[in-house]
Amino acid sequence: MSDYSPSPEFAKQAVGKAELYDEAAADHEAFWAARAREYVTWSKDFDSTLDWSDAPFAKWFVGGELNVAYNCVDRHVEAGNGDRVAIHFVSANGDDDRDITYAEMQREVAKAANGLASLGVQKGDRVAIYMQMIPETIFAMLACARLGAPHSLVFAGFSADALRTRINDAEAKVVLTSDGQFRKGKAMPLKKAVDEAVEGTAAETVLVVKRTGSEVDWHEGRDQWWHDVVTPAADTHEAQPMDSEHPLFLLYTSGTTGKPKGILHTSGGYLTQCAYTNAVVHDVHPESDVYWCTADIGWVTGHSYIVYGPMALGASQIVFEGTPDSPHQGIFWEIVEKYKVSILYTAPTAIRTFMKWGPEIPAKYDLSSLRVLGSVGEPINPEAWRWYRDHIGGGTTPIVDTWWQTETGAIMNSPLPGVTDLEPGSSQAPIPGIHAEVLDDDGNRLTDPDAVGYLVLTKPWPAMLRGVWKDPQRYKDTYWSRFGPDNYFAGDGAKYDEKGNIWILGRVDDVMNVSGHRLSTAEIESALVHHSKVAEAAVVGATDETTGQAVEAFVILREDAASEADQADEGGALIKELRDHVAKEIGPIAKPRSIMIVSELPKTRSGKIMRRLLKDVAENREVGDVTTLADSSVMDMIQKGMTAPAND
Ligand code: WT7
Repeated sequence: MSDYSPSPEFAKQAVGKAELYDEAAADHEAFWAARAREYVTWSKDFDSTLDWSDAPFAKWFVGGELNVAYNCVDRHVEAGNGDRVAIHFVSANGDDDRDITYAEMQREVAKAANGLASLGVQKGDRVAIYMQMIPETIFAMLACARLGAPHSLVFAGFSADALRTRINDAEAKVVLTSDGQFRKGKAMPLKKAVDEAVEGTAAETVLVVKRTGSEVDWHEGRDQWWHDVVTPAADTHEAQPMDSEHPLFLLYTSGTTGKPKGILHTSGGYLTQCAYTNAVVHDVHPESDVYWCTADIGWVTGHSYIVYGPMALGASQIVFEGTPDSPHQGIFWEIVEKYKVSILYTAPTAIRTFMKWGPEIPAKYDLSSLRVLGSVGEPINPEAWRWYRDHIGGGTTPIVDTWWQTETGAIMNSPLPGVTDLEPGSSQAPIPGIHAEVLDDDGNRLTDPDAVGYLVLTKPWPAMLRGVWKDPQRYKDTYWSRFGPDNYFAGDGAKYDEKGNIWILGRVDDVMNVSGHRLSTAEIESALVHHSKVAEAAVVGATDETTGQAVEAFVILREDAASEADQADEGGALIKELRDHVAKEIGPIAKPRSIMIVSELPKTRSGKIMRRLLKDVAENREVGDVTTLADSSVMDMIQKGMTAPAND
């Protein structure tokens, strides 16, 4: 028994039991076939479990038919649970709190489906959703699922430019948005970005939910109000079965190039794994738990663990429109106390923020309803893990540290809370049905606990991505060539400890993780060089105490801009201008923490920027090996903190 073994009481009532590991080990496909029939209601049963003959393009539950929205809503009403609360909506200003039951959810989703259909949305059409955390966003996603029209959510913190790129790539026919969103109590515009973004795209209609009541520009013939199209629509809608492999959604995520990838997920396999993992990892008991995943719906965690997983299970959950610090720093704990939240799933960056604010804040609230805590998005440092357990979990709740990705669709590595002896800081091992290993450069499994390698998934899994939208080559190259063709390269460095636990050590490619959000160095560099005063840019992710990583940029100015910056305030105003420029091109999350203006960047003789050395500077470390640099004096110059450019 370790310090963190499950209590016998918890183990006894846990959904996920140790036998699952044996069942999965005995027969991979039979295991998943059983989960698919346990967690999903099929309109037509599937003929075979997995077709991997066209690897890496998988087909799961071949020949099966289902409607995902029916599974997330209607079947719970048919089972007599229509009065169960699906969503406790907690509004940002407390002005619109409401409970929505599964029966109400069924009517709202039907209306939204009828409304979208009246706008011409048909099976296969893509619908972009640029909306905040309000119930309408969920109605809209499920309405799309019902119609078989893949949705593409774009996080409401992204800029108009980022939105336009995503609308264009997906060729979205309709864009959903709201007039505005509340941020820290204030109404901020949202539709404005859509007005900028849709210009020149193939989007025919913009459907607008009224939330803040702010003035908006109106484009007759293109713009429609939700309350004119959806609210009066019929509140029944017959769900049509879709093929198990019918596309459910696209979600764009950053890769190693400047262009985000449209990650494609389909229906049967995705829903199976979301529901199964939510049940066995979070230990959701739909009839008694109040579950809360604090992620934003615009990211994959919101898709899998607010919408599809919990709703497939028929769970009751919190949907919170606000942020952890608004209206006050105790708002999370006030919500836990008020709604008796029993399962909380949040991110290490939030936990570290709460640590900084101090344990006396959560101590003011009754958190005794909590029985499972979860963590996702980045490695959780053992100190934050212990703080979470002690100050939020009363020193007793299990913590599930869940490793997965936009691409994996659902949880892959995690303890099972009723089975596993927990190891703070590690997501430990693949869950039953998942195969993950840490491999060395040559593709051999690591044996030495001190060695560092790569996390690789060695068997296909039901919620796996089915491709990169319109780019099959990029799909193969990015994930299935490094250790391919049957091994999925996750892009994360990892190692084993003596007990065989897997520790994730962060990205090995040019991808950063800021507050659990994935950003690419290339994307931010390309935004910087779009600015008229910038000649070259290099971006690295530097360790940050709260956000995990922070964006650090190194910029070479064009000559005319360089002298101007010199004469003015040593670049202060210019640096602000550049930071704002990145926020405008990508979104505020991508804004560099600092920008250093330099006269040269460290490059190899072949011209490749050595970001590793810049990272050393950004993290105040001694600079590593510079022998491969074309000009070894460059790092000296940068290190001397040359905030103003040299003028020679
Ligand atoms: C990357 C995926 C998973 C949904 C949210 C992020 C990192 C994620 C963990 C964890 C260590 C983690 C990895 C991964 N990551 N969870 N529990 N421990 N690292 O999804 O934006 O697709 O990012 O987030 O680096 O590759 P994403």
